[in-house]
Amino acid sequence: MVEVYEGAVDKGLEGVVACTTGVSSIVDATLCYRGYTIEDLAANASFEEVVWLLWNNEKPTAAQVDGLKTQLKEHFKLSDSTKSFLNTLPVKDVHPMAWLRTAVSALSLWDDKSQDLSPEAQREVGLKLLAKVPSLIAFFHRKREGKDFVDPNPEKTMAWNFLWMLNGTEPSDEAVKVFDTCLTLHADHELNCSAFSTRVTASSLSDLYSAITSGIGSLKGPLHGGANTEVMRMLFEIDDPAKAPAWVENALANKVKIMGFGHRVYKNGDPRAKILKSMSKSLSENTGNGKWYEISDIIEQAVVSQKGLLPNVDFYSATVYYSMGIPMDLFTPIFAMSRTSGWLAHAFEQYANNRIYRPRGEWVGKSSQTWA
Ligand code: COA
Repeated sequence: MVEVYEGAVDKGLEGVVACTTGVSSIVDATLCYRGYTIEDLAANASFEEVVWLLWNNEKPTAAQVDGLKTQLKEHFKLSDSTKSFLNTLPVKDVHPMAWLRTAVSALSLWDDKSQDLSPEAQREVGLKLLAKVPSLIAFFHRKREGKDFVDPNPEKTMAWNFLWMLNGTEPSDEAVKVFDTCLTLHADHELNCSAFSTRVTASSLSDLYSAITSGIGSLKGPLHGGANTEVMRMLFEIDDPAKAPAWVENALANKVKIMGFGHRVYKNGDPRAKILKSMSKSLSENTGNGKWYEISDIIEQAVVSQKGLLPNVDFYSATVYYSMGIPMDLFTPIFAMSRTSGWLAHAFEQYANNRIYRPRGEWVGKSSQTWA
């Protein structure tokens, strides 16, 4: 008789504490990065300051954040060899996250530090990854539109550069501010699915490119980062505010998951959704997209009253990005662009205090089989 391993199964690891972390915390409806609330950071910190905070566990001085900006600027550009490779990848009818996952993975082949896990090399590779993801997304989008890549401006921030590289026109100060806040809001979120994937890969002492590629693969799914694009699809499908309540009722009756609602950890609301909701309201109204905000608000009321579920980060980020003119299939890559900062903080933390993740599975297959 073959022995069978048995143990309590926590499906989806709900409530399992898998590691210690000092990167970000969620207590009730309060999200903090390194002890600072998300409301405080969204209102007062730039994305580059948040990156410094996540990576160094302290608020940066002006000189420190300038130093980080200078280092990031050195890596914004894509080399000619990287561009030649990227030009061989298909861009028509491909999932932008699948393209991004492939491109990020490929970057390691031009990085002679990619296999070096010393703390100095980790930081250098992390800077390259964070700086290059926006350039990759813009490269992808412009190529599929038949447009040339626009080189980043080393004098500008990541938010400014992304909008510049995407559209080829200088963004307004207001657009840069909104986008910078969105980057801050999405930067980290404790042990979510993609941060866990990143840490699991890092825990085998694999390299940072592998770890971030794992994170991108996990974020891609509609139950995680892919939900923001699906929210916009849902709004287009509903199209008319008057139809929204019946649409929700029908979806819930048929056990269809409504994208942008529910959360494994937050049961009293996602604090990021509250911030994004007010951004969505003013942006949508100011850009002639009020209808999409109106439908969103009606959906929220219907889902809350019929199912008791509250919106998560993906629900109102959809209308924020849409009002900024960002193509809806880039919403998830933009999430990845921001979250790369948090994934890197988690990978650094994992390497610094590592033990390989190796849980068990409860056997439910056949036993005592014989081959011959
Ligand atoms: N729409 C409708 N019902 C939902 C729902 C949603 N968005 N999210 C959860 N539920 C329901 C489930 O059907 C289940 O109902 P039941 O008990 O009647 O069967 C119950 O709420 C628990 O949901 P469950 O899927 O077990 O929760 P989870 O913790 O495993 O999953 C999410 C969390 C986020 C994956 C889930 O809420 C979801 O799929 N949301 C939509 C996708 C999304 O917005 N993802 C982004 C997350 S930031």
